[in-house]
Amino acid sequence: METVTLNAGTPEETREVVAKAVTLLNEGLIVALPTETVYGLAANAFNAEACAAIFEAKERPSFDPLIVHVSGKKMLDTIVNIPPDIEETVNVLIREFWPGPLTMVLPKKNIVPDIVTAGLSTVAVRRSKNPVFSEIIKELELPLAAPSANIFGSMSPTSATAVHKELSNRIPLIIDGGACSDGVESTIIRIESTERPKPNIHLLRPGPVTVEMLKKFGKVLKEQDSQIENEMPNSPGQLAFHYAPRTPLRILDCPENFKADPSKSYALLSYRGQEKDGYLRIHDWKEIQILSPGSGKLPEAAVRFFFSLRKLDESGADEIIAEPIPGKGVGLAILDRLQRAAL
Ligand code: TXA
Ligand code: MG
Repeated sequence: METVTLNAGTPEETREVVAKAVTLLNEGLIVALPTETVYGLAANAFNAEACAAIFEAKERPSFDPLIVHVSGKKMLDTIVNIPPDIEETVNVLIREFWPGPLTMVLPKKNIVPDIVTAGLSTVAVRRSKNPVFSEIIKELELPLAAPSANIFGSMSPTSATAVHKELSNRIPLIIDGGACSDGVESTIIRIESTERPKPNIHLLRPGPVTVEMLKKFGKVLKEQDSQIENEMPNSPGQLAFHYAPRTPLRILDCPENFKADPSKSYALLSYRGQEKDGYLRIHDWKEIQILSPGSGKLPEAAVRFFFSLRKLDESGADEIIAEPIPGKGVGLAILDRLQRAAL
């Protein structure tokens, strides 16, 4: 199958590509679409066959459930039953963070095919704020199942070029909406009511909606730590080895500990690119990518993360050495992806 990439640049182009994507999605085909986090591979969430095509194109195991995207609260209510004891929190979080990179796991209605949720009784839902994505889902008037548009286990794509590298000849259409503005996948949470006035917020995957931002609304419990240690996902599909480049990657906590094997070449993933951090000059690196040149800004590092990792993967180095990232704010999400890539 030949893969066509269409650009959503000018308003006129956008109108055309939105119409094209809606037509294909209505026909039960799958289309790669931009979101604010990473590119998604989308299908009509009510069409089990179309969703099966997502699993096939990504080589994704059937036990790994998909995220379903909605256009708003009305569409959300067609696919989930919100338990009364967490309804208020869900509504507050929707008001605060939607459209945006927050995914909530909620009890599903029967209308959602089992293939979407890998047989679970819950479904992960979010509303994207990307204007092209929003336009498509509004015109389609159907929820869109959309995991990241990469081969299973590989890095999430943050540009149409990266999607093309992952999935060319497997899907009919990629909509190019430019680079993703957040750069790492959405935050995934499960809400649990408690005896206390505030609920527990279980963090299944850290992302652009940070622990600091969620703290106001409940007690945030970081479940991803136990997942990395146990390799037993609480969120099925949140497997330890996710997000990996083909090149082996190691996080080097302390530059003094670096000992190069003379027969190997190394590439550096630097956080700030500053000499005083001690990494730049310990080796004649084959390639260096800097996540946030200068003072080190975590949102900028997040935007550049997968792009930089791909560059290093393509550099031909035998190993990628990564500087540690501060585990606060969206840094926690970057660190999580790095740790999984390093396994
Ligand atoms: O930012 C994002 O979330 C992107 C864009 C395209 O929206 N999507 C994305 O999807 O990252 P994906 O499939 O790569 O990751 C979805 C994760 C899976 O690892 C899965 O474990 C979790 O969501 N998930 C899905 N349904 C779930 C459920 N019912 N319960 C727990 N975890 C679930
Ligand atoms: Mg993914």
